[in-house]
Amino acid sequence: MREREGEAETGSAQLILGIETSCDETAAAVVADGHDVMSNVVSSQIDIHARYGGVVPEVASRAHVEMMTPVIAQSMVEAGVEPGDLTAIAATVGPGLIGSLLIGVSAAKSLALVWDKPFVAVNHLEAHLYASFLEEPDLELPVVVLLVSGGHTMLVLMEGHGRYRLLGQTLDDAAGEAFDKVARYLGLGYPGGPIIDKMSADGDRDAIAFPRALSKQGYDFSFSGLKTSVVNHVRKNPEASDVDVAASFQEAVVDVLVTKAQRAVRETGAKGLCLAGGVAANSSLRERVVEAAAADGIRAFVPSRSMCTDNAAMVAAAGWWRLHSDGPAGLDHGASSSLRLPTYV
Ligand code: KG4
Ligand code: ZN
Repeated sequence: MREREGEAETGSAQLILGIETSCDETAAAVVADGHDVMSNVVSSQIDIHARYGGVVPEVASRAHVEMMTPVIAQSMVEAGVEPGDLTAIAATVGPGLIGSLLIGVSAAKSLALVWDKPFVAVNHLEAHLYASFLEEPDLELPVVVLLVSGGHTMLVLMEGHGRYRLLGQTLDDAAGEAFDKVARYLGLGYPGGPIIDKMSADGDRDAIAFPRALSKQGYDFSFSGLKTSVVNHVRKNPEASDVDVAASFQEAVVDVLVTKAQRAVRETGAKGLCLAGGVAANSSLRERVVEAAAADGIRAFVPSRSMCTDNAAMVAAAGWWRLHSDGPAGLDHGASSSLRLPTYV
């Protein structure tokens, strides 16, 4: 095993192999002690799904079967570890596409059996929350986490490890889903988030005053009306500049997300504001969160872009915490497409 800083004396680092296959990324990573990333391999299927304008579950499952073993092998080689060095094997068990999840879960349980290691069941949403700990292991709690991905939009008060208070969530589309649907309508390609993000840099975000649904009420979100407003605007104004539409749409999404997250921090007295999930890779959202936190004198935790989108390092990090709090899962553990974050209100 590669010698790691400070480990020579203790030799006690706990290495978790994380496996992630909830959607269209086949990923494996080795992480030491819940935060020290030794390898982080992601094989993206974006090119395969782009031609269909979105993820095709059956196609995703087949690609996971092809890539799973090479990706795991690469993550072990890059980390310089042997199976015997591992403490446990953690895999995302939900939520996500069931066919995709089953491939990662089956691979992880098979390796756990063959290598005689504990298997740890990881919730994908919790894994996104733990992305911040990879870069800030001493992150001080409580923090408000704005979790924005293709399938979820949630405001969570993380009061302790594994202790989440759900402040609000989307009542309809997730933020990433809104980006993807608007991009699809505008004929921009898939996935829409990164494309709209890039285009917005050349557009005027104040060009069109799109609605900010529920902006002043509570912590829940709604994005489906915004998507309809974009469609109606483009229908009525076919000459509208694409970059202005993209920038104004992005501004409306980011505005609501940041307004609510900032209010949540103020009302809960949280010590920091964390971003998580694929939409957290958005340039404008990242800037606005940093500004909002600075204005309130609290810390902003904005993971690097590659840790925001789906990856297995965050699964290994969450797995390390879960192993310590709950212990291993049985080898009869299944997968669940609709698994929820264990929250209280
Ligand atoms: O967390 P993630 O990788 O997968 C899920 O768990 O859903 O998030 C994917 C979502 C997609 O909807 C994608 O369009 C969005 O994240 N996304 C972005 C950006 N990069 C990815 N949205 C806005 N701006 C970005 N730069
Ligand atoms: Zn995700």
